[in-house]
Formats: sequence, C-alpha cells, structure tokens
Amino acid sequence: RRGLANAVLRNFQRRRPELEKMADESPRGRWSYPNWWIEKLQAEHPAHWQTILEAGLQHPPFTLRVNARWGDAAKYVQILAEADLPARQTGVDAITLDKAVSVHSLPGFDQGWVSVQDAGAQWAARLLEAQPGERVLDACAAPGGKTGHILERIAPDATPIKLSALDIDATRLVRVQENLDRLHLAADLIVGDAAHPEAWWDGQLFDRILADVPCSASGVVRRNPDIKWLRRPDDIAQFAAQQAVMMDRLWPLLAPGGTLLYATCSIFNVENDGQVQAFLMRHAEDAVRCPLPEPLSDGSLLPDAEHDGFFYALLRKT
Ligand SMILES: C[S@@+](CC[C@H](N)C(=O)[O-])C[C@H]1O[C@@H](n2cnc3c(N)ncnc32)[C@H](O)[C@@H]1O
Repeated sequence: RRGLANAVLRNFQRRRPELEKMADESPRGRWSYPNWWIEKLQAEHPAHWQTILEAGLQHPPFTLRVNARWGDAAKYVQILAEADLPARQTGVDAITLDKAVSVHSLPGFDQGWVSVQDAGAQWAARLLEAQPGERVLDACAAPGGKTGHILERIAPDATPIKLSALDIDATRLVRVQENLDRLHLAADLIVGDAAHPEAWWDGQLFDRILADVPCSASGVVRRNPDIKWLRRPDDIAQFAAQQAVMMDRLWPLLAPGGTLLYATCSIFNVENDGQVQAFLMRHAEDAVRCPLPEPLSDGSLLPDAEHDGFFYALLRKT
C-alpha cells in the first residue's frame, strides 16, 4: 500500500504543473464543490457566485452577541481588549474576535454577558421586533440562539413577552433550556411538530412567529464543509416542500396584524424568495410582505467575511 501511495505522490510531483492547471480549469477542481451546486449558484447568483463559493471555503468568523440586558457591544469590546482578545463591533449587538477562543475564556460568558452567534443570525430578533407583553412563537427554536436574543431585547423592567419555544427534537430542546439558564431567561419549551400545531397549540393566537425552518444550510457550509458533499440536488426540493407545509400550518396561528418572520440559512432561491413568492400567491387574501432595511432589502444576506448566508422575509397578516 505504501508503494502505491509513493507512486501516486511521485506521479503528482512529476506532473504537478499540468495537474494543477487541469484542476484550476474545471470549476469543481478550482472550488471543491459538487458541479450541481456550482451550476445552481451560477444560475441564481450570476453576479456573486464566485464570491459565495470563495466565502464558503474561508475560515468562519468567530462572532458574539452581547446581551443587551447586561450592556452594549462597545463596553464588551473594551473588556475583551483588557483581556488581550482583540475584537471589533460588526453589528448592533455583534462583536467579531480576531481569533476564535474557548467560550469559557470569554469574560462573563458563564454569567450570560455574551453568546456565540453569527452576525447574520442576529438580524432575526431585530426584524421580529417582539414587544413587551406579546405572545411570541419561536417555531424551530433549538439550540435557542434566536430564542435568547428575542428575550434579551426586552428590558428587565418591561412586561415580559410570553415566548413559546417549539422544536421537534427533544434532545435539542435541552440545549435551549441550558442556553436560557445561562442567560437567566425563561420560555415555555414545547416538543412538537410545527407542521402539526393541533398536537401542541393551546388555541391562543400569537402576535409574532419566528419560523427559522430546517433548510439546506447552504449559507453556512464553511461551518460544516461536509454538507455540500452530503446534499443531493433532490434534497433542496424536499426541504422546500417541508418549509411550505410548515409556513401554511403556522399561518393560522398568527393574530390579524401580527407578523411571521420566515428565516433560512440557505442561499438557494427555492427555499428563499421563491418560497415566499409561492406563499404570497397561496395566501393573497391575508398576507403582505413588509420591506426590510438595508442591507437586507431583497431578504438575502450572502455569506462574506463578516457573516454567514441568511434569508429573511417578514410577512404581515392583514
Ligand atoms: C435552523 S435550526 C433552528 C436554529 C435556531 N432557531 C437557533 O437560532 O438556534 C432548525 C430547527 O428546526 C427543528 N425542526 C425540524 N423540523 C421541525 C418541525 N417539523 N417542527 C419543529 N421543529 C423542527 C430542528 O430540530 C432544528 O432544531
């Protein structure tokens, strides 16, 4: 076996310039993604496909969310500097460290001052804008990154929101509880299927729903590089079909005037804008899409050095 390996290596060394040129000329060799993935991005993001592929090969940023109940990002950047951990503010509550470190070496992590959360994911709670006293459903909550952020944004002296955190996976819901315990926050945790509310819903309408649905995770491949090789083209259509059912089943749970924030960490159209357009056609009688602030105007946040790839759509019930 060693003889074979040596022969392969010798062959590579001898033909290196020629082989590297061949690899560079084929998109799959150059980018190290499956062909179907590259072709899909070329078709759907003609101006950005290369930067998206490039971002997916980079080291992911290590980003924290500062707990607004504790203090603000500027204050924590200062504390990090004193601890010899250089960092910069990359969002309202977001701080990106120059280097990843163990969470327990972060000042105040165990006391809930900060959480690890990508800056793109931090848009969810801001766009949902839950207000004191409201009933809120976090329909796909585990491990609870966005659950914690939604609750942190309500001042401690304001009327608490009544947050139901649902997930189909009981084991993953334990992570939500652990995160909430560390942050000294509380939610009603429910094991259940977002596509079958009749099994767990108490019949009271929600003012806001976050549907952070299961998806291809194509916007976060650098955090899990195997994803792109494990996924098959058919999987994307299956995710889209599941997402459509979840949205349709959650919509009746929303009070008139309420908003549903649809979120994915995908960069594929059928899970994102295509999904939302189809939803608006099916619910033309009572659903409108709300404008989003820059840089999210069309809902997508393409992956780059500062954040992962996400998609958001805010839907209001008339
Ligand atoms: C994208 S993750 C959610 C991440 C989470 N919102 C956060 O910010 O930490 C999707 C979650 O949906 C859950 N899920 C998948 N199918 C579901 C279903 N039918 N009903 C409820 N939850 C589901 C998965 O277990 C997974 O935890």
